[in-house]
Amino acid sequence: MSNTNTSTTNTTVANSSIVTNIAVLVSGRGSNLQAMIDNIENGNIKNANISVVISDVADAYALERAKKHGIDAIFIDPKSFANKTEYEQELVKILNSYDTDLVILAGYMRIVGKEVISAYKNRILNIHPTLLPSFTGLHSHRQTLDYGVKVSGCTVHFVDEGMDTGPIILQSCVPVLENDTEDTLSERILEQEHKIYPQAVKLFIEGKLKVEGRIVRVSK
Ligand code: GAR
Repeated sequence: MSNTNTSTTNTTVANSSIVTNIAVLVSGRGSNLQAMIDNIENGNIKNANISVVISDVADAYALERAKKHGIDAIFIDPKSFANKTEYEQELVKILNSYDTDLVILAGYMRIVGKEVISAYKNRILNIHPTLLPSFTGLHSHRQTLDYGVKVSGCTVHFVDEGMDTGPIILQSCVPVLENDTEDTLSERILEQEHKIYPQAVKLFIEGKLKVEGRIVRVSK
């Protein structure tokens, strides 16, 4: 497991394990999962292993992607639990059973609750397809187009108790074009997601992220 200093205001997020065990939570097609797999397989992200992919959607294509790469792929049906707490307790049990050091949300369309957050504080990352704090939650591309902003992008952040509110690690910008649709905008942003998410994971694994309150310092 990682050697994480858990002081609340000033936390260096570092990992002393030789290999960082990553668990990826998904709900859909899994292109960000694929980017992570590719970056590990091509050696850009070193000392990392995706040990399990967990989906809350039975037929998420991300599960197929995992299997193709020999990664354990698990579907947990949230509806089969009495409430969110029990669902998340099961999630934590599975994450623990894989000796998880880092949890990555990759298109996981659920708000992470306190069971998971307290078990993996400062060790959960998310990617969101806007420049946070703008346009949190669902339908972010629709929100972006409807508002008429001229620049958008994506954000990798630590996950806290709020919705898309945690300390920001990396962001990347793209222009919003006059004739953009949700599809064209999402495609342009996704290209950036596939770059900055692996980059953020690499920084985490190399112990280069320091959380000071809500500011993340990135060392060279
Ligand atoms: C990505 O665009 C990701 O940023 C977004 O879902 C998509 C998942 O695509 N996540 C959120 O909106 C989370 N609030 P993928 O399954 O191909 O990685």
